[in-house]
Amino acid sequence: MIRTAVSNDIPSIRTLMTSVPGFWHADWREDAIDIAIQSAGSLAFVYEENSRLLGFACGHDLGFLGYLSALVIAPRAQGRGLGSQLVEAVQQELVNRGCGVLISDVWKNSEGFYRNLGWRPPDVILLRKKLRE
Ligand SMILES: CC(C)(COP(=O)(O)OP(=O)(O)OC[C@H]1O[C@@H](n2cnc3c(N)ncnc32)[C@H](O)[C@@H]1OP(=O)(O)O)[C@@H](O)C(=O)NCCC(=O)NCCS
Repeated sequence: MIRTAVSNDIPSIRTLMTSVPGFWHADWREDAIDIAIQSAGSLAFVYEENSRLLGFACGHDLGFLGYLSALVIAPRAQGRGLGSQLVEAVQQELVNRGCGVLISDVWKNSEGFYRNLGWRPPDVILLRKKLRE
């Protein structure tokens, strides 16, 4: 079942993220998930099954466009369509708000997953400025 993420989900989301090798960044703030959920509002979703949290997607409405800041499915639940359903939930909520574009920086090895859902590379480049070493 997909539902909106709430603060009580934070420990389970953290466990989920650290269960996927390489997903959790050592330089992320301790309260990164809390801040992400708060800024997402009703665009943060979890997939729950038998009281176990199996997936998390975090979207953000930035006015000009939407941004998907996190998408992760528990290794044991991958390949069952949960990721697709969570992305669809974010997309649908943005469409309902009148937002026409959703972007994300994604892992290279998940490019096929996004292309399968109709995502394509835009005619721009992604740049990054590190704010601390
Ligand atoms: C990538 C991820 C979100 C996909 O979620 P999922 O629930 O496993 O994917 P789905 O079951 O919804 O897959 C939908 C389709 O995409 C395909 N697919 C899934 N992961 C894929 C990948 N990494 N590369 C190519 N295709 C992929 C599936 O085979 C399926 O194809 P089908 O419709 O022809 O059967 C999930 O595997 C995951 O969390 N991976 C680790 C973290 C990650 O990569 N996060 C996203 C980038 S930051």
